[in-house]
Amino acid sequence: MNAPAANTDIASAVAEAQARFSAANPNSQAQLEQAAKVLPGGNTRTVLFYPPFPLTITKGEGCHLWDLDGHQYIDFLGEYTAGLYGHSNPTIRAAIDRALDNGIVMGGQNQAEAGLAGAIVDRFPTIERVRFTNSGTEANLMAVSAARAFTNRPGVMVMSGGYHGSVFYFAPGGSPLNAPFPYVMGSYNDVEGCCALIREQGADLACVIVEPMQGGGGCIQGRPDFLAMLREETKNSGALLIFDEVMTSRLGPGGLQALTGVMPDLTSLGKYVGGGMSFGAFGGRADIIDRFDPSRSDAWPHAGTFNNNVLTMNAGLAGLSQVYTAAVAESFNARGDVLRQALNALADKHGVEMQFTGRGSMMAVHFRRGDICNVEDVLAGRNELRPLLHMDLVAQGIYPAARGMFTLSLAHTEASFAALEAAMDEFIVSRRSLLGN
Ligand SMILES: Cc1ncc(COP(=O)(O)O)c(C=O)c1O
Repeated sequence: MNAPAANTDIASAVAEAQARFSAANPNSQAQLEQAAKVLPGGNTRTVLFYPPFPLTITKGEGCHLWDLDGHQYIDFLGEYTAGLYGHSNPTIRAAIDRALDNGIVMGGQNQAEAGLAGAIVDRFPTIERVRFTNSGTEANLMAVSAARAFTNRPGVMVMSGGYHGSVFYFAPGGSPLNAPFPYVMGSYNDVEGCCALIREQGADLACVIVEPMQGGGGCIQGRPDFLAMLREETKNSGALLIFDEVMTSRLGPGGLQALTGVMPDLTSLGKYVGGGMSFGAFGGRADIIDRFDPSRSDAWPHAGTFNNNVLTMNAGLAGLSQVYTAAVAESFNARGDVLRQALNALADKHGVEMQFTGRGSMMAVHFRRGDICNVEDVLAGRNELRPLLHMDLVAQGIYPAARGMFTLSLAHTEASFAALEAAMDEFIVSRRSLLGN
């Protein structure tokens, strides 16, 4: 695939790549048009939309996906980290089958919920007690609300570029739909600025919620001194520190908290921890989470019809206890580090303005050199190249997140990684003139 000579600028290269995509995917396009009669824009999940139209996925197996026009892809989107187990892990599948055999919606407590809670408490160093929800968004709503009730304070500090769910969207521009808390916005990795903000807020601040590595924002690692400062200052101010580990908990056996050594008061989880079923959880210090003990006279209420649904509880338990063991978490993320280094070496070899940030099994591409410490650094990149990379990778049978995020699954083999490297090499060579030096 060589870039046609007509592609003298990025906009025309993107237009040409999108035209090629449209021609190759008439069935997906027709499906979207049909869906648009009843779903706004044919969509019920904003993150999955990209121009000219998203592919309709019909099947997944191992690390592969197929679309409605019959193309096969290697899945590097990995359901934005929820797809850690791949599409057909036999242990997960057997756990779901067993659960289905015994009934689905039974309106009672079940054995698997305590099993999964036990596996989580054993795993993540600061989680002494845990409650389940149905999504990461809901887990964060509950964690922030619990922090406000526990401290009897209103304020919620967030970081620009952070994402904690569809009502906690702090990318530039924000969202009119955000949960109506009084927010204070810090700049990620800004030690001095965020320290001053926490001190300024004083007794008004209930919590700081932060991703120890910003995932959706571009796989931006939280610097150790930044995370340590947040710990120290929240402690001094009487506010709670909440780590959103919905994505990052996969990065090591005890999540990113264990790897950084910075210990939050509360942690939210989601994604793969439910074995690929709908999932969220929040947990942490026993003195806080025990306020949900319904036998207490001062108990906080927290219902949720599907909080302990048997498919999630059984799939999650099988996943954490039998598949994503501590040893597997370590070797899996080490493979991701090697892949990220290989992709960066490729960009260096060709001398292009392109880099891959991240850690372990999560990475993101940026079209610029230099440190990427926060969303402002991300915005300084040549982000108009992202749709071109996306279209070109899809054309080569690679399925990444449109925004340039790559997430690994246990189903990936060395051949899957080699295919990604080869496709990236092809992209760089064929689009060389657009990529900068
Ligand atoms: C860091 C983080 N927190 C929370 C969420 C929200 O999780 P969910 O999509 O399950 O509501 C996401 C989703 O991508 C996320 O990346």
